[in-house]
Amino acid sequence: MSDNTNTQTKQNGRVFSGAQPSGNMHLGNYLGAFRNWVKLQDTFECIYCVVDMHAITVWQDPETLRAQIREAAAAYIAAGVDPEKSILFNQSQVPGHAELAWIFNCVSRLGWLNRMTQFKDKAGKNREKASVGLYVYPNLMAADILLYQATHVPVGEDQKQHLELTRDIAQKFNNDFKTDLFPEVEPIIQGEGARVMSLRNGSAKMSKSDPSEYSRINLNDDADTIQQKIRKAKTDAELLPATADQLEGRPEAINLVGIYAALADMSRDAVCAEYEGKGFGDFKRGLTDLAVEKLAPITEEMARLQNDNAYIDSILKNGSERAQAIAEPIIAEIKKTVGFLT
Ligand code: AMP
Ligand code: TRP
Repeated sequence: MSDNTNTQTKQNGRVFSGAQPSGNMHLGNYLGAFRNWVKLQDTFECIYCVVDMHAITVWQDPETLRAQIREAAAAYIAAGVDPEKSILFNQSQVPGHAELAWIFNCVSRLGWLNRMTQFKDKAGKNREKASVGLYVYPNLMAADILLYQATHVPVGEDQKQHLELTRDIAQKFNNDFKTDLFPEVEPIIQGEGARVMSLRNGSAKMSKSDPSEYSRINLNDDADTIQQKIRKAKTDAELLPATADQLEGRPEAINLVGIYAALADMSRDAVCAEYEGKGFGDFKRGLTDLAVEKLAPITEEMARLQNDNAYIDSILKNGSERAQAIAEPIIAEIKKTVGFLT
């Protein structure tokens, strides 16, 4: 990258985003997040993090976690994140995340956390048994972003509420300490892929933790598996209409048309126009071909990278050092602002 590009990308602002290494990286992660991360690399200074400290808010077997941190890094790279252009690292290697999260635990309010829908979903009925970490998870997420004074955060739709909380925390800190240390964070929630639903239930989000393998397409699924999952995807008996608004009330059909549109970079209307009057047999064959064409290169690259732990570990170590170099003066300034001796 030339010095000119470097200066320009820095002026545009700093991007931060992350995903949890809790296994089963899926099509929703790709369409809602990774794909957009890749597009931002040429216009912003980008920091992409494997958020391992977030993952342990629910139980993780240590050996499995180690493998999944590497798998997540491999998925980012296979999707197109370039570890030279962007900083790619895992959260636990930069101590500032935990330090700032503690400070934010003291800025954020119980009332704010009580409104977080992801906690309610994840804790379920057994709230008393949920870890305290799961409850304060959004404060750690705010720390991830603000530790780098990041200005833009590309995520899927489900993270919108957490980003609103991040803005509230930044604002309260700035007000309380009469400072302008933290910028206003802009969410980037983009396009057809921002909310990919389960293949088994068009009203539930496609997620890593769904017990049904048939609910999601994983980024390491081979062509046969992708075909089977799409064939078994829930649909209805009606034909595809001429325009997308005529899909109303058919959540599974809306989801599959949305996935097609996102993968093909088309509008939902254009997809409907192409398949107007056809049934789901035809549509699913088209969708399978498209999904295999787009995902096969990612799957292959992930498999190749997963045979090379030493390479992945060196990328993460180098990324952590670069992230640490940005975080260090910022966390020092934060500590001074709070009144700690440094
Ligand atoms: P997670 O898997 O929860 O760590 O999420 C990592 C990134 O993928 C976040 O930006 C999420 O918003 C995004 N994401 C996760 N699931 C979906 C989905 N079903 N549709 C769109 N984006 C998603
Ligand atoms: N909470 C996000 C998720 O589950 C992951 C995440 C953690 C994140 N820290 C972040 C995303 C900072 C964007 C920025 O998807």
